[in-house]
Amino acid sequence: MSLEITKIKYLPELRETAELAEKIWHECFVNIISEGQIDYMVEKFQSLNAMTDQIEKQDYSYFAVREDGELCGYFGVKPESDDRFFLSKLYLRSDKRGRGIASLMLRKVFQEAEKYGKKRVYLTVNKNNTHAVEVYKKTGFAIVDTAVTDIGSGYVMDDFIMEYTL
Ligand SMILES: CC(C)(COP(=O)(O)OP(=O)(O)OC[C@H]1O[C@@H](n2cnc3c(N)ncnc32)[C@H](O)[C@@H]1OP(=O)(O)O)[C@@H](O)C(=O)NCCC(=O)NCCS
Repeated sequence: MSLEITKIKYLPELRETAELAEKIWHECFVNIISEGQIDYMVEKFQSLNAMTDQIEKQDYSYFAVREDGELCGYFGVKPESDDRFFLSKLYLRSDKRGRGIASLMLRKVFQEAEKYGKKRVYLTVNKNNTHAVEVYKKTGFAIVDTAVTDIGSGYVMDDFIMEYTL
């Protein structure tokens, strides 16, 4: 098996990633938030249009994870203006989980943060996303705060803020 994690540079790969995002979000958030909120959040944050805008106007980068050439996960990151690096998204197809691939993805996130000279990596994670919280804790992230964010249309994100010191 060969695993590759590479920065997404071209539209076809971003389109493929948006398609994967829609599948993963519907499968992994089904017991955490409503279908309506999943649809709303996918459109707002992970549609091809939204991701293109994040890359072109908001300094985001997306990375594709491929096993034997097949796209199976992705993550999104963004440098902040202070010493922090934002891990915005970290998603792996369900059949690829439990094999340590997320640890390799997180190692790549830390390398990217170091390239920017950042000292801390932070993320937001739904308080009920127990598995992800455990994975982050195991990796060395700590819960530093909570945030309830109004994302419009009557929906809120109820999150832990977690941080890792590089
Ligand atoms: C979050 C996600 C990327 C993690 O991927 P994964 O394949 O489940 O995680 P891994 O198996 O790579 O585990 C990562 C590390 O956490 C450890 N770990 C996993 N579950 C754990 C648990 N319950 N308690 C403690 N450690 C745990 C693993 O042992 C591994 O460490 P190691 O590489 O040193 O052995 C994946 O579950 C996913 O895509 N979930 C759905 C989307 C999601 O919720 N994303 C996060 C949104 S903020």
